[in-house]
Amino acid sequence: MATLLIENLAEVATPQGTTVRAGAEQGRVARLHGAEVLCRDGRIAFVGSSEERHRRFGELPDVARLDGAGGTLVPGFVDPHTHLPWAGSREEEFAARLRGATYQEIAAQGGGILSTVGATRTASEEELATAMLPRLRRMLTCGTTTAEAKSGYGLSLADELKQLRAIQRASAAQPVTLVPTLLAAHEVPPELRHDRERFLALVCEEIVPAVAAAGLARFCDVFCEQGVFTAEESRQVLLAGRAHGLAPRLHADEFVDSGGAELAAEVGALSADHLMAVSEAGIEALAAAGVIATLLPGTSFFLMKHIYAPARRLVAAGVPVALATDCNPGSSNTESMPTILTLAVFELRLTVEEALTAATLNAACSLGLGAEIGSIEEGKRADLVLLDAPNLLHLAYHFGVNPVAAVVKEGRVVLRAAAPLV
Ligand code: NIG
Ligand code: FE
Repeated sequence: MATLLIENLAEVATPQGTTVRAGAEQGRVARLHGAEVLCRDGRIAFVGSSEERHRRFGELPDVARLDGAGGTLVPGFVDPHTHLPWAGSREEEFAARLRGATYQEIAAQGGGILSTVGATRTASEEELATAMLPRLRRMLTCGTTTAEAKSGYGLSLADELKQLRAIQRASAAQPVTLVPTLLAAHEVPPELRHDRERFLALVCEEIVPAVAAAGLARFCDVFCEQGVFTAEESRQVLLAGRAHGLAPRLHADEFVDSGGAELAAEVGALSADHLMAVSEAGIEALAAAGVIATLLPGTSFFLMKHIYAPARRLVAAGVPVALATDCNPGSSNTESMPTILTLAVFELRLTVEEALTAATLNAACSLGLGAEIGSIEEGKRADLVLLDAPNLLHLAYHFGVNPVAAVVKEGRVVLRAAAPLV
């Protein structure tokens, strides 16, 4: 029986429960001082004082130990919105944006998503999976133990299937668990630019059924945005996905209020993502339907929009907030959840406790995994991050550094931060 004892911790900081935390609950985080955590067979078997652990489990002389070294233990970060399987790179577009071009202007000239579609279509499944590995390594280094990964740079049946198979392969090859999402409706591909109805039919009648039949995705996503897919078109895609067992989630109201939040509420989406331009009515609809708002402040930052999603208004309205990187080559080129937490505190104005819940339990719930991961409680999967921080507040207080000292995945230490050579 594989057992790991994590000891000498200054603090264990965790949200609690298996369902979303909203409103005042979002900021309610347990901060246990001097606790130990015992992992058995990949699960958390105990969280509590050393005395109680001795009483219940004895001395445990022969088990593996992780020295917490006066650090803080938090749940493994869950990143519920990424576009990981891409080929190529877009640093020239980035440089053009630094000179003043906008993301939408670049897209209108055939760059943007379509330039990554071109590169991704020419890559093989194996090349895509291989390209994901260093990204996943960086995620793990930054404390992510579960991430969602979307297709959406294929835009044809064969290329969307190829991306989803690459996700499956990459997930099996390293410790970060990947949850796959079909995003066939990310953009209209060049060959069907003149006939969007045909593309929508291809997505709804061929790609969705084939992906569902192959068991390659859990969710169906769509880019509901002015100039991409209207709310009506997005509804078609999400309902087709739902009819085939793919739960809806969507890119909603990123740049313009397109009724994305209302659509998320209407179709019973688990999550509405981005929401930089969400309306008051949209916020009310999310609250009434219990949709999670997955916020992506890395995108606001990377696109230099100086417009962030109205996180405080969402929390005040009782909408559960989750955080994600949106990791992709065009609008948010980062794998780092600690960086996203920094932006969430400084720009979204979440408290550190609210941000922790957003990056762990609420993010897990956004993927339908709240009963399995997202908190440090007995029975949950032992996915944990040891921070080189004397308490939770340092996660935001000390910015611009990677605070991760070690990562535990299913009860095994899978990463330790490098020690100096001299
Ligand atoms: O979430 N908004 C749409 N999709 C991505 C961007 C993808 C890209 O630029 O390649 C996003 O921001
Ligand atoms: Fe995205």
